[in-house]
Amino acid sequence: MAGKGFTVNKDWDNPKEHAMPAEARVPAEMRIGPVVVTPATVLAPMAGVTDTVFRRFIRHASLFQADKLSSEQVDRLTSRQEAVQIETATTNENSGCGLLMTEFTSADGLARMRETKRQRYLTFYDDEHPIGAQLFGANPETLAEAARIVEETGFDLVDLNLGCPAKRVVGSNGGSGLLRDLPRIEEIFRAVRKAVKIPFTVKFRMGWNDADIICLELARMAEAEGLDAVALHARTREQGYSGQARWEWIARVKQAVKIPVIGNGDIRTPEAAAAMVAETGCDAVMIGRAAPANPWIFRQIAQYTATGSYQRPTVEDRYRMISAYFQMLLDEVEATKDLPRSARLGDPEGRMKQFATWFTHGVVGGAKLRRAIYQSRTGAQVLAQVDAFFAAQLAGSTETDASPEEDGLPEFPEGMPVYD
Ligand SMILES: Cc1cc2nc3c(=O)[nH]c(=O)nc-3n(C[C@H](O)[C@H](O)[C@H](O)COP(=O)(O)O)c2cc1C
Repeated sequence: MAGKGFTVNKDWDNPKEHAMPAEARVPAEMRIGPVVVTPATVLAPMAGVTDTVFRRFIRHASLFQADKLSSEQVDRLTSRQEAVQIETATTNENSGCGLLMTEFTSADGLARMRETKRQRYLTFYDDEHPIGAQLFGANPETLAEAARIVEETGFDLVDLNLGCPAKRVVGSNGGSGLLRDLPRIEEIFRAVRKAVKIPFTVKFRMGWNDADIICLELARMAEAEGLDAVALHARTREQGYSGQARWEWIARVKQAVKIPVIGNGDIRTPEAAAAMVAETGCDAVMIGRAAPANPWIFRQIAQYTATGSYQRPTVEDRYRMISAYFQMLLDEVEATKDLPRSARLGDPEGRMKQFATWFTHGVVGGAKLRRAIYQSRTGAQVLAQVDAFFAAQLAGSTETDASPEEDGLPEFPEGMPVYD
């Protein structure tokens, strides 16, 4: 089976028999300069995915002390509004997701953009703190200017993307393109460091290819230039997303520097998060593709760390989740409707369809629901399909596919936007 998560020794699954070893627990806290990240889990930046609605949704979905619904509540769970209230009427104090990140934003674009357009890229709400903004670019001065904008906007930290394999980004020497130019990276580190007081971090891959692995030098350089943390997606640029992330390089980076090291790549389950910490000693784990398919993963990690086991989502949980996300999306459309076009949330129906696709993996009959959703033309039709589907499920009259989809988190979701 693909992925490290499936090969780890899970001795500590039963807390009564095996206490989870301390060195395998995802840490309760990581400090990036003055920013306290608690617990030490990070939502990875994902272009086309981690906009403000998704980020807040993940924060809220990660509440791990929220009461489970009582059976009476489930019986009454007939209206979307009620479902949403249950899911969102709490604070993020106990969220299992310690740090949010924006998707990558072009430093050139940001420096040139008008104020209103910046709003679309840099909008966040109070309940997103702590939150970092990620930038990409190749010009030190432009990146420094963009970092200043990020600081003025109120972000808790600024992150530099050195991992993006996208051709248009690499073509202009941004993202992973810079991995072949360490002197330029050094200039960028210096310029940005001088420009802002907020913590400055960098996210990178191991190197361009196996013949040119530079992550240790890069991490040491980051430390020497005053960066506050590093995050490694343990693959090379040439690897794209193929093969397995090579966590041993996270361990090596951890040994090479004293600043916090965030490990990233192929975490799909709480067991895998614990295994990454055990194998690498990393200070925090960063989770990307698993989050849209299993928005509970951060909460599950928190639970797993605390108790050695974790709850799996029920049908009601999924209904609440989809309803909550859709409602948040519609609220955002409403909240931004009077702003200039460039600052509005775009294509809510498209987003609904996309997220419904990811969320319904693991739901019995999910394939049928996805087909119905894809045929819907409006947001209201999508909502009606979801309501009807779950009403039938909760009433027990499930007309399902022959083979139920597996619960939990089998694979990364189909239909993720392409980031290469
Ligand atoms: C759709 C998509 C968009 C991504 N966008 C970004 C991005 O904007 N910035 C970045 O640093 N990494 C980006 N990544 C990479 C992720 O942050 C992460 O490093 C990678 O997916 C590996 O982690 P995972 O195995 O937990 O998904 C993206 C990945 C995906 C799948």
